[in-house]
Amino acid sequence: MANLLVIDDNLTNRETYADVLSGEGHIVLTAGSGEEGLAKMGAAAIDAVLCDLKLPNLDGLATMELGREKFAKVPWILITGHGNEETAVAAIKQGAFNYLTKPVDLARLKATVESAVRLADANRENRQLRRELGYDEALARIVGTSAGVRQVKQIIRQVAASDAPVLIEGESGTGKELVADAIHALSKRSGRPYIKINCGAIPHDLLESELFGHERGSFTGAVALKKGKFEVSDTGSLFLDEIGEMPLDSQVKLLRVLQDGSFTRIGGTQPMSADVRLICATNRNLKTEVLANRFRMDLYFRLNVVSITVPPLRDRREDIPLLAQAFIERLNLRHGQHKELSDGVLQMLRRQDWPGNIRELENTVEKLYVLTPGKVIEADGLAHGLTSEPMPAAARAPVDADEAVRLLVGLPMDEVERRLILATLERCGGNKSKAARQLQIGLKTMYRKLETYGVKE
Ligand SMILES: Nc1ncnc2c1ncn2[C@@H]1O[C@H](COP(=O)(O)OP(=O)(O)OP(=O)(O)O)[C@@H](O)[C@H]1O
Ligand SMILES: [Mg+2]
Repeated sequence: MANLLVIDDNLTNRETYADVLSGEGHIVLTAGSGEEGLAKMGAAAIDAVLCDLKLPNLDGLATMELGREKFAKVPWILITGHGNEETAVAAIKQGAFNYLTKPVDLARLKATVESAVRLADANRENRQLRRELGYDEALARIVGTSAGVRQVKQIIRQVAASDAPVLIEGESGTGKELVADAIHALSKRSGRPYIKINCGAIPHDLLESELFGHERGSFTGAVALKKGKFEVSDTGSLFLDEIGEMPLDSQVKLLRVLQDGSFTRIGGTQPMSADVRLICATNRNLKTEVLANRFRMDLYFRLNVVSITVPPLRDRREDIPLLAQAFIERLNLRHGQHKELSDGVLQMLRRQDWPGNIRELENTVEKLYVLTPGKVIEADGLAHGLTSEPMPAAARAPVDADEAVRLLVGLPMDEVERRLILATLERCGGNKSKAARQLQIGLKTMYRKLETYGVKE
């Protein structure tokens, strides 16, 4: 038994196909247009689609293209008009499983659908098997054999199958997004939509419309109805990156979705629901954010059902040579060359601290690669300060913020402030206006404080 979707604008055809296929024991959903069909695909786990090529508005080919973008593994059978072999061939080229010509021979219809369903089953079993064996490309992409990485992979395997929200913490560039990708890929939702949104990159006033969508005319500029990411990722996973940047009022709305599973589009009245698995990531320490009243505690607990902390590269130096080699292999493939890293380079890379973590290592290896004309990449590039720019303070070591704060406990508030200001000044090379900007205080305040603390040039 399979879940089938029949898309045809002709009611009689639709019912005929649906009757025949339900007679075979399948569950058949029907849709009168491509748009309606795509919406149903999002709402139910469809195993195969039967779709008429000629549809008003979105035609069969376009519908298939959109459907396959989201559900790559679902086979499509297209129905073409008599004598329309060319379009049928185009359909196959675009990835259709098969086609039927009108008038549709019902015995052939059954047989074609059967083989499509068998393919869907095989795909599913394959995925299941891969999950059980604990192997997946997505996991293999996370390079590293250190205890830290092994533990991260272990948790990914354990949590992938459940629907529990996952919170991924770790410094910038440690591979949080790779971890999120792997969780989705190993979950039973793989092959379902996987939508990513970076809460830090979207202006605050647009974030809610991105997440929950808006009705047409709900605010200036809302010229058309827009579905939010929650709706679009229905039955799949939603990756909320930089969740620590989410403003408090949006946090309230997110909490509501997690509590009762429903939300409304901006300007809408109809409550909507979506079956979405949340994966969140942050390079801030959310616990600290909660203590500073910048993140809601109730939301924090909801999101943090499972937590994964990706260790910084300096705590797993043994992975550095492996990572560097992996980047070189990728570059070799891309450039069609066969360069290699000398032992000296590997040693030097291993000794560095990598405040920007794997992203910084990757950039450095790439620079060395393009700057080396010969086959062997030697260490002199590194000696000339080829490593990337130092990371901004905010990205440097947020995970250790707890530890840093603990060191200050017991000191008077004034002393804490004095130390913070001096340390910031030092990092800014003594530049007072730069330091003031980082501390988000006015330059006047900066001077006043320095005076109070008796700091001379
Ligand atoms: N274990 C790993 N193996 C191979 N490549 C990795 C690994 N971890 C990270 N990378 C690579 O490093 C880069 C940064 O990774 P990613 O974007 O996942 O980091 P992030 O933690 O999300 O960073 P940010 O907080 O800045 O968003 C990517 O190009 C990614 O492919
Ligand atoms: Mg990221």
